[in-house]
Amino acid sequence: MEFQLTEEQLAVRDAARNFAQRECLPGVIERDRDMKFATEQIKMMGELGFMGMMVSPEYGGGGMDSISYALAIEEISKVDNSCSVCMSVNNSLICWGLETYGNEAQKIKYLTKIATGEWIGAFCLSEPEAGSDATSQRTTAIDMGDHYLLNGTKNWITNGSSSSVHLVIAQTDSEKGHKGINALIVEADSPGVEIGAKEDKLGIRSSDTHTILYNDVKVPKENRIGEDGFGFKFAMKVLSGGRIGIAAQALGIAAGAYELSVKYSKEREAFGKPISQHQAIAFKLADMATEIEAARLLVHRAAWLKDNGGNYDSASCMAKLFASDAAMKHTVEAVQVHGGYGFVKEYHVERLMRDAKITQIYEGTSEIQKLVISRNIMKGEIYPALLKAKV
Ligand code: CAA
Repeated sequence: MEFQLTEEQLAVRDAARNFAQRECLPGVIERDRDMKFATEQIKMMGELGFMGMMVSPEYGGGGMDSISYALAIEEISKVDNSCSVCMSVNNSLICWGLETYGNEAQKIKYLTKIATGEWIGAFCLSEPEAGSDATSQRTTAIDMGDHYLLNGTKNWITNGSSSSVHLVIAQTDSEKGHKGINALIVEADSPGVEIGAKEDKLGIRSSDTHTILYNDVKVPKENRIGEDGFGFKFAMKVLSGGRIGIAAQALGIAAGAYELSVKYSKEREAFGKPISQHQAIAFKLADMATEIEAARLLVHRAAWLKDNGGNYDSASCMAKLFASDAAMKHTVEAVQVHGGYGFVKEYHVERLMRDAKITQIYEGTSEIQKLVISRNIMKGEIYPALLKAKV
């Protein structure tokens, strides 16, 4: 078993760390306050290859492995989670979904632009009445012969107004249940696509989260991904990988708060010595370091399974469940370590605490992660996961 990162993985991590510190850190507090999308930073992320990291170079991507991707997300999430969620959705849900299940024409037309960051993608699954219960889609895609007629409302859509392409999950035949659901590639400027209200959120405030309405949108048949009725399984497959990205984001939030806490506690003195030398603080730092390291191992294991042909459904849920809980717990602790300074925006930890919460909610709540893990325990699919990996 190898615990050492490769030279290439270390180089990706360092490049992402430098980018985050140099380009994302300045202005992050103001963007969060003003709910301002990081247009410049996202453009640079495309130029640096962070928007289609795992896509094959043939389609404009970086051809990297999932561990490199997790490392990059972790570093950017230490600083700006509105940037990292945009990156995570684009890489995991849109690029990976298109490359794995799209046909050649779809890859050439859409993936080549999305992988380079020229276009951004949005994943449109959630609805006012279909969040966790993803089979209960009310959005309809009626088969009209040469096209689908799309009608419905999608909620809490990341990259809602910044995206050029939407992957929309919609019901074609409700009598078939999940087998009647399709995944459609919808161009954001199609007639009938309406970008609705922008959400005013607790965290990831500069990420553009919107309601999107589809009013009689004609979607060409060739824009369906996979066979008729494959849409629900498509969504489950991409979310399984997507959870590695969000787990890496949660890890980055926890690690960012920890790094700030270590720095502050060495500088800040109380009762005649740096607060890091008081056990009340030192023990918090020890707990943070231990659980962050455990989260990192789970994230990298899930990424490794994905890269090596293993079944990563449970591994990605475990990584997200554990890392998001660690992010929530340790960002609260980081605020405590900082005392009164932690409660003001200048010290960054209050923003990380607010950002942490969404990692327990999106791409499946913590309860959904437990549901998937427990179902897989009953199927006997937890421990054999490693053994099934082809290496
Ligand atoms: N891979 C392949 N197929 C899968 C699968 C997977 N990971 N998971 C389920 N399926 C298949 C099942 O095998 C089943 O197929 P068959 O009938 O042919 O056997 C079918 O899908 C239905 O599966 P279930 O019976 O398990 O479905 P369910 O209704 O019980 O729901 C669920 C399963 C896990 C709860 C699912 O609904 C789910 O994941 N919900 C959460 C949705 C979610 O994560 N939403 C996030 C929105 S996107 C987002 O947040 C992005 C963002 O902006 C950041």
